[in-house]
Amino acid sequence: MKISIFWTWYVGLVTWACLAEVWHEVMCIDIDERKIENLKQWIIPIYEPGLEEIVLRNYKNWNLHFSTSKTEWIKFAKVIFSAVWTPELPNGKADLRFVESVAETFGQEIDEFKILINKSTVPVWTWDKTAEIIKKNLKDSKTTFEVVSNPEFLREWNAVWDFLNPDRIVIWCESDEAKKLMEQVYKPFESKTRILFTDIKSAEIIKYAANSFLATKLSFINEIANFASLAGWDIKEIAEWIGLDPRINNKFLNAGIGYGWSCFPKDVSALIETGKEFGYEFKIIKATNEVNEKQKIIVINKLLEEIPRLVWKKITIWGLAFKPNTDDIRDAPSLDIIRKLEDLWVSEIKLYDPLSNEHVKEKFKYMNNLTFAKNKIEALEGSDALILLTEWDEFKNIDYTVFEKLNDKVIVDWRNIWNKKEIQNLGFTYKWI
Ligand code: UDX
Repeated sequence: MKISIFWTWYVGLVTWACLAEVWHEVMCIDIDERKIENLKQWIIPIYEPGLEEIVLRNYKNWNLHFSTSKTEWIKFAKVIFSAVWTPELPNGKADLRFVESVAETFGQEIDEFKILINKSTVPVWTWDKTAEIIKKNLKDSKTTFEVVSNPEFLREWNAVWDFLNPDRIVIWCESDEAKKLMEQVYKPFESKTRILFTDIKSAEIIKYAANSFLATKLSFINEIANFASLAGWDIKEIAEWIGLDPRINNKFLNAGIGYGWSCFPKDVSALIETGKEFGYEFKIIKATNEVNEKQKIIVINKLLEEIPRLVWKKITIWGLAFKPNTDDIRDAPSLDIIRKLEDLWVSEIKLYDPLSNEHVKEKFKYMNNLTFAKNKIEALEGSDALILLTEWDEFKNIDYTVFEKLNDKVIVDWRNIWNKKEIQNLGFTYKWI
């Protein structure tokens, strides 16, 4: 069937390509002409394993189209996705400007029944607000439409796999006509997952609940790790043994510097704010973001335990992206660690990440004591201590004697990727979570 998608960023591009992969004909729209021009030259603005191949294959099969015209976005199909961004506002609420703008356009352009499917992470009640905005903008008040909620559960660097192999597909819609259309969209997935038509507007909250639970699980294991570290116990062993209980399972139990990227902090804050609108105070998840923030202070304190005065010292950071295999530095812990080291008058911070150097260089272009190394060994040259923040594979299996390059021989491994005994036997000071 024909499907339209608004916005060519992570969720929009992955949805566009993967729906074509399962034989739909899909149009994606973006008002940013540059993005569309790049797509026409096969320049995909994001890195997601498998995405480029899928786009090329389906473009050749004429399943994929793109345009900058909002009119074309509406005319092309009856089933119309909105995959716009909902960043966090300073007050913790979700910024719905783009969602509202799409609803206005949808209302202005439709002249027959169509459904607007919201894929973005939006607070509960957004469904109602979206329908109101559309109604207000209809050219003809008799034109019928429906707003559908269909939240995404995509992880960066796994987004294509997650879309094509969903644990579940969650949909909220009102009418049988909308339900039939959504069943057609996701028919190719019927045999491999549960398609859940929620009978209340819980689809929107399911996404927040999922992300807030994952974030809370992480902050939980990080709290246990912080405590275990005081007692000298091994958090990897603790995590392994509790993870054997299938009710806990061993996923999301790697203690570390905490979560980055805006999804978790943003969704936890938005859920807390939504709770306030219902007069409910979320006590547990309120602590989730607080614990996450504390992880960064703990790392700096671990460094200060060994080097109490960082003035004139040179510190190396390996790993800048919020997780391995991505160049995404949004809300990455490394950014706060750089700022904290700067506040402690470190004379030079030497940085290396396989993909993210340029993004961090751009972000801190006014800081003059940052050095960006071409490789991890160069980043150690002349430094006093090393902090590991992102567990890239290339950092894992190294010859620990490279740490000889560090003047003060201090290694702060906040992803627990190295062998503590071997490093300590070489005479280095090793701090771990
Ligand atoms: C997350 C959710 O997993 C996904 O379902 C949602 O749609 C978007 O947000 P993403 O943020 O891309 O996906 O990455 P994820 O792999 O979940 O990692 C999130 C953060 O948690 C990263 O900073 C990662 O380093 C951290 N993490 C993850 C840990 O610190 N330990 C773990 O065991 C797992």
